[in-house]
Amino acid sequence: MRTMKLRLNFMPTITTPKATTVFREIFLILLLALCFNDFGIAQNLENGKEINATCAGCHGQHGQGGSRGEYPRIGGLSASYIASQLKAFRARTRVNIPMYPYTQERELPDQDIKDIAAYLASIELPTKWPVFKETDDALARLTLTERVMIIPRVPGDVDNGGAIYQKKCATCHAKTGMGRGMFPMLVGQYTSYLKRQMEKYLAGERPHDDVVVGGVLSSLKEEDRQDILAYLTSIQDQQ
Ligand code: HEC
Ligand code: HEC
Repeated sequence: MRTMKLRLNFMPTITTPKATTVFREIFLILLLALCFNDFGIAQNLENGKEINATCAGCHGQHGQGGSRGEYPRIGGLSASYIASQLKAFRARTRVNIPMYPYTQERELPDQDIKDIAAYLASIELPTKWPVFKETDDALARLTLTERVMIIPRVPGDVDNGGAIYQKKCATCHAKTGMGRGMFPMLVGQYTSYLKRQMEKYLAGERPHDDVVVGGVLSSLKEEDRQDILAYLTSIQDQQ
């Protein structure tokens, strides 16, 4: 408003070449800032790391999950899958009462979802115990073991589980169980969590492959589902 007034009152002075240059510079700076925002760094890993402090309370500092699968592992999942689930929690198409408040637009806008998804996807969680050096002190040892992700073996017929898995699940979740893109990894995820998710799919509380409630899962007996879980824990060492 003030500039408008100035322009009207002192038209001759304001249109001097000097003033136009200043305006042009401001305009250029604004334009640059706008470009940076839109086409600059697509994901900001530093921002992702900061957001992760909120998630760590439940999912652990390295996204390794906790309480034996009450909180799933999220470190090392694919960025597109993480982002899709955060949006599903926000839209309540996947109901998650503990996480709902953290995923609201005000708390987690789309850019933050990109950043946290990229940050978590970049975390590599080892599946073997580290070999300590004698010089490693207690803290160094703790730091090394904190991120180790080993899912205990569970009972079940591994051969039957493997046959069904390769026939009915591998097309999406990959032969290795490591998933790809929008299809989450099943190997390296807590068994109790996976089991709970299968039950949610079958109860129609979470959409799976969507053709019918529970999708491909509804064609399996409970025993077969257990065998698949046993199989998934048996192949994690091969990764
Ligand atoms: C108060 C605890 C809590 C906090 C904080 C929390 N989560 Fe979760 N999160 C959960 C629980 C519980 C589940 C599993 C829900 C279920 O069983 O369906 C979950 C599930 C997830 C999943 C789905 C994993 C999968 O394999 O489908 C993702 C992704 C996730 N959380 C990301 C995050 C991110 C990112 C943050 C931080 C912005 C966060 N969570 C903060 C409790 C929490
Ligand atoms: C047509 C593709 C497809 C096939 C085949 C398939 N899935 Fe899935 N699965 C998905 C998708 C997509 C998701 C993620 C769904 C979402 O967004 O909530 C998923 C998620 C899951 C999850 C939850 C993982 C997590 O981290 O929350 C489990 C458990 C699962 N599938 C088990 C299976 C099993 C067992 C089979 C074989 C009997 C199978 N799926 C076959 C597409 C498939």
